Amino acid sequence: MAVRVGILGATGAVGQRFIQLLEDHPTFELAALTASESSAGKTYREAAKWRVNTPIPDDVAEMTVTETTPEAVPDDVDLLFSSLPSGVAANVEPGFLEEGYVVSSNSSNDRMAPDVPLTIPEVNPGHLELIEVQRDERGWDGALVKNPNCSTITMVPTLAALDRFGLENVHVSTLQAVSGAGYSGVTSMEIIDNAIPHIGGEEDKMETESRKLLGDFDGAELHLHEMDVAASCNRIPTLDGHLENVFAETAEDVSPEEAAEAMREYPSVDLHSSPEQLIHVFEDPGRPQPRMDRERGDGMQISAGGIQTTAGGLKYNCLAHNTIRGAAGASVLNGELLVEEGYL
Ligand SMILES: NC(=O)c1ccc[n+]([C@@H]2O[C@H](COP(=O)([O-])OP(=O)(O)OC[C@H]3O[C@@H](n4cnc5c(N)ncnc54)[C@H](OP(=O)(O)O)[C@@H]3O)[C@@H](O)[C@H]2O)c1
Repeated sequence: MAVRVGILGATGAVGQRFIQLLEDHPTFELAALTASESSAGKTYREAAKWRVNTPIPDDVAEMTVTETTPEAVPDDVDLLFSSLPSGVAANVEPGFLEEGYVVSSNSSNDRMAPDVPLTIPEVNPGHLELIEVQRDERGWDGALVKNPNCSTITMVPTLAALDRFGLENVHVSTLQAVSGAGYSGVTSMEIIDNAIPHIGGEEDKMETESRKLLGDFDGAELHLHEMDVAASCNRIPTLDGHLENVFAETAEDVSPEEAAEAMREYPSVDLHSSPEQLIHVFEDPGRPQPRMDRERGDGMQISAGGIQTTAGGLKYNCLAHNTIRGAAGASVLNGELLVEEGYL
């Protein structure tokens, strides 16, 4: 049976990806689109500056965008995907949760809250049970699930595969695409012929979110993974796809062949948006590359390559599509997990 869904912040860069990914989705039927007051009352075609690489679906183009309030969303909508700026989401999401909506959110507010599951379905689906703690503590009927930051989600599946060797220290340096900053995030004058060695807040997100994702939930409380993570984040002039250089130290010695096998064998899940193989490992040390590899698995597969031993551990590169696996696709996949686990 179809689950009726809505998108909060539907006109933005991530909102447009949601619309693209929900077209012909086997479970989700799009029934509500919200944005700011300046878009409310317009048709979606009028309100959105459409920039993704497939046309606006005809039925969506004629839908009316509403304000982002629970009263504006039809009662028979059960699941909301949220792609609001985090400051707006922090104010607005609780109202929807109090009204009983289940929200799969991409915004960064509350990701590290102890009672909010931060979930990658292939990595830590069990953390969804934090919803029971959340409902007890907050007294709402709805449920809030977050997906991690785009740079974190690129690296964490590879770390999850290596954790069987006992992860102790992780250093990561990123080369992040401009779409991660939103359409007006970096100007052409800033980024062409350039690289920017600072992305506000991003390093802290990678360092904390990865420890939560790989942490243990004991049924009452979530314990962060004990590994140390140090991140350095850089913006480069690619359009989509974050490439990351990872250095990982493990308790057990691990050869590049063992690391590659652990990544290749790391299981995917049986959900519509999850790729058949979660991590593709290249033999060619020159891959993965953003332009060539970001669309693998419809933008949902993680790529890795260049695995070598180095002083104290391993080094390798990994890549994912930041607005699909790193944003809208991640929230849709969490929505599929919520359905599978009976939260809707
Ligand atoms: N871009 C990425 O790769 C990426 C990756 C991971 C996470 N994220 C996160 O996803 C979220 C959305 O990012 P984005 O790049 O899609 O941003 P964006 O392009 O600026 O879109 C923001 C959306 O929120 C709406 N909005 C803005 N202010 C509002 C308000 N006061 N009330 C209601 N709606 C409001 C906008 O509507 P109007 O069109 O009416 O202004 C638009 O629909 C952010 O939290 C971002 O950090 C983005």
